[in-house]
Amino acid sequence: MRKGGIPVPALAAMGASIVFALQAFGQSDVEKRVDELLARMTLEEKLGQMSQSTAMRAPISDEIKREIRQGRWGSFLNAGSPADRAEAQRIAVKESRLGIPLIFGRDVIHGYRTIVPIPLGQAASWNPDLIERAAALAAREASAEGIHWTFAPMLDITRDPRWGRVAETLGEDPYLTSVLGAAMIRGFQGASPGAPGSVAACAKHYAGYGAAEAGRDYNSTFIPEGQLRDVYLPPFHAAVEAGVASFMTAFNALNGVPASGNEFLTRRILRVEWKYDGLVVSDYESVLEMVKHGYAADPADAAAKAVRAGVDMEMVSATYFDELKRLVEQGRVPLPVIDDAVRNVLRLKFRLGLFEAPMRSATETEITAAARDLAREAAAESVVLLKNDGVLPLGGGVRRIAVIGPLADSPVDQMGSWVMDARPEEVETPLASLRKRMGADGVRYAAALRNSRDASRENFGDAVAAARASDVVLLFLGEEQILSGEARSRAFLNLPGAQENLAEEVAKAGKPVVTVILAGRPLTFQSVTEESSAVLYAWHPGTMGGPALAEILFGERSPSGKLPIAFPRTVGQIPIYYAHLNTGRPAPPGELGIPMGNPVDPQGYTSKYLDVELTPEYPFGFGLSYARFEYSNLRVSSPAFARGGSIVVSAEIANAGSREGFEAAQLYIRDRVASVARPVRELKGFQRVHLKPGEKRTVSFTLSERDLAFHNQAMQRVAEPGDFDVWIAPDSASGVHGEFTFTE
Ligand code: GLC
Repeated sequence: MRKGGIPVPALAAMGASIVFALQAFGQSDVEKRVDELLARMTLEEKLGQMSQSTAMRAPISDEIKREIRQGRWGSFLNAGSPADRAEAQRIAVKESRLGIPLIFGRDVIHGYRTIVPIPLGQAASWNPDLIERAAALAAREASAEGIHWTFAPMLDITRDPRWGRVAETLGEDPYLTSVLGAAMIRGFQGASPGAPGSVAACAKHYAGYGAAEAGRDYNSTFIPEGQLRDVYLPPFHAAVEAGVASFMTAFNALNGVPASGNEFLTRRILRVEWKYDGLVVSDYESVLEMVKHGYAADPADAAAKAVRAGVDMEMVSATYFDELKRLVEQGRVPLPVIDDAVRNVLRLKFRLGLFEAPMRSATETEITAAARDLAREAAAESVVLLKNDGVLPLGGGVRRIAVIGPLADSPVDQMGSWVMDARPEEVETPLASLRKRMGADGVRYAAALRNSRDASRENFGDAVAAARASDVVLLFLGEEQILSGEARSRAFLNLPGAQENLAEEVAKAGKPVVTVILAGRPLTFQSVTEESSAVLYAWHPGTMGGPALAEILFGERSPSGKLPIAFPRTVGQIPIYYAHLNTGRPAPPGELGIPMGNPVDPQGYTSKYLDVELTPEYPFGFGLSYARFEYSNLRVSSPAFARGGSIVVSAEIANAGSREGFEAAQLYIRDRVASVARPVRELKGFQRVHLKPGEKRTVSFTLSERDLAFHNQAMQRVAEPGDFDVWIAPDSASGVHGEFTFTE
C-alpha cells in the first residue's frame, strides 16, 4: 500500500502543495494514472465517483442509464443481476465522458451461492486456513457474477450477545478476531484483489460498533482510548497489515462523535498512524444519519464533516453529490480534500484492474461438488460439543431416531443472516441427511412448532409420540434466521417461543435426547441442557449443515469447535468475557449469595451476584471432543527474558480417549502488575493439533515483547517489566500454568 494520505497538520494548513509534492516523489504507475485522470475530471464527476447507489433495479431504468452516462455514480451495491451489472458497466465505460468503470459491491458475508457458517460459527473452528479457503470460494462465486468488492470481514469485537450482529463477528477476542479476520481477507483478495476469482475486501465497521450500549443495534458506544486501542482497533490494524482494500465506517457514535464523521478514527489513526491508503466507504446512509445523531446541522454539514474526516465514498445517501459542489465553491470544503477522496476511489479501481477488465465475468455461478465439500467441512468444524454423557457418537444400536423441531428442516434458517444469492433448494437440512443415513423408516420427524417463535403446544403430542417410538431423540432448537443479524437485538437470550416447553415434554418420554442448537448468538438454555444427554451448538451452519451434523452425530468426525465468545448463564451477566480485570474485590469462582460479613466486617463483600454464579455457563475457548485431551508439563525455555528477547512456552497434550480428534490449544498470559491494570487472561496464540487415541504431542509457542504490549496511560504501546502468568489451555478457564519474568 502507498504510504501517505493527508496528515491532519498539512490539511489544517491547507498545505495541499506539500501533499502533492510528497505524492509526486516516488509515486507508482497507479499514482500517475490516478493523478492524470483526476486532472481531467470536473467537480461533478469527482463527486459522482464518491457516490454509491443501491438504486439499480432489473432491468436498469433509463434514469439510471442516464445518470451512469453523466458519471453520477462511482459504485453500486447489492443491485442488479450479472447481466444488469454488465450493461451498467458497458454504459459507464463506453458512453460516459471519461469511461471510468463502476465498482460493484455486495454483502458476501459468509458465502455467495454456497453458504458456509455465519462468521461467529466459522470463528468456532479456530482454523484460519479453513476460513481463508471459505472466503476464497465466496470470492470465486461472487466475482464470476460481476461482483468486485465485498463488504466483509466484519471485525467488530463484541461482548454482548443481545446484539444481533454478534452473528457476523468473529467473537469477543481481539487476537482471535485479528488472526481469523486476516485469513478472511487473504481468502477474499487472494494474491491481488483484482485477480480473476478475487474480490476486494472491506474491514468493517470502523469502529467500536460492537460496544453498542445495552446490546441495542446502532446505539451509542463509549470506549476509553486505551480500551479502544487494545481491544477494538487491533483487528482493524491487522486488516491493514493483511492488505485489506477498503474500510467501512460504522453507524455508531463513538464517545459522542459518529464514526462516519470521526477525524480521530479515519484521519489520525487510519491515515496517519497506520498509513492506510485504501478506500473508506460509509455505511448505509451513515453520513446523512449524522443529522439525526445531532452532530450535523443539516445534510451539507454532514457532507462536510464526513469528507473532512476521510470518508471517501458515501453509501446510498446523496449529501456528497448534492452539497459538496456548493461547499467547495463557498470555500467551506477545500478542493484538495475532495481530490484526496477521489484518489482513493480511483486507486482502488486501478488496483482492481477495472480499467483493463471492467467486467471480468458476468455469468451465473453453479454450486460445485468441491464447494459443497468445503461448506460441509466448514460447518462440521464450527460445531461445538457442549455436553456429552456418552450418548454421542450414536452407536450401531440406534435403529430409530426421532427428529424434533422446525429447525431440523428449514433451509432458510439454517443459512443464517446476510444470504442474498443462495438458493434454499440447494441446502441439505439435518432431516434430509438423517433420512439418507437411516432410511425413511429409521427417522420419525415431528416439527412440533411452526417456527422458533411459535408459542403453541398443540403439536407437542406428535413429538412425544415420535420420541417414545425411537431409540434416541435429536431435538433441534434455536433461532430462526430472521431473529439474527442487523437490527435483531434481543433483550432476552432464552430460546424463543415454546421451545423450552417442548424440550421438557420430549424429555418425559424417557429416551436419550441429543439437543442441537442452531442460532446466530449465544443463548441461555440451562434447563434444556439438564434434560439433554448431549448438546451440540451448530450456529447457522449454511448449505451443508445437514451432512456436517450427521458426520458428527455418527462419529465419522469428532467435534472440534471452541467457543469464540463466552456463553452467559443469564442475560443479566452481560457484558461477560474472559479478558476482564481482576477488580479490587475478586470473588472466588462459584461464589454467590448474601455476603456473610457486614459493612464493619465485610466478609464476602466481593464482586459477585446474589442470585447467579459469576462465571459464564461456558467460557471463551470451551469445546469438548469425542477424544479426551489432557494437558501437562508446561515449561518455559527460560525463567526470564529481556527486551529484544523471547521465550518458548510449551506443554504436552495427550489424547487419553478412544477416538481421534482435533484440539485448539490456547496460549494465555497475565501481566500481574502494570501501570494500567491488565486482564486476568489474554489470548496470545493457538495451535490446532490432531491426535489419535494414545498419541501425545508437545505444543510450543514463542512469546516476545510485542505479545506483552498494551497502551499505557499516555497512550504509548509498551511492554513493562514484571512477572507474568502463562497458560496453555483447552479454554480460558483452565489449563496448565507457568510463569516468567520480562526484564528491561
Ligand atoms: C448495512 C450494514 C453493512 C452493510 C451495508 C450494505 O446496513 O451495516 O454491514 O455492508 O449496510 O448492505
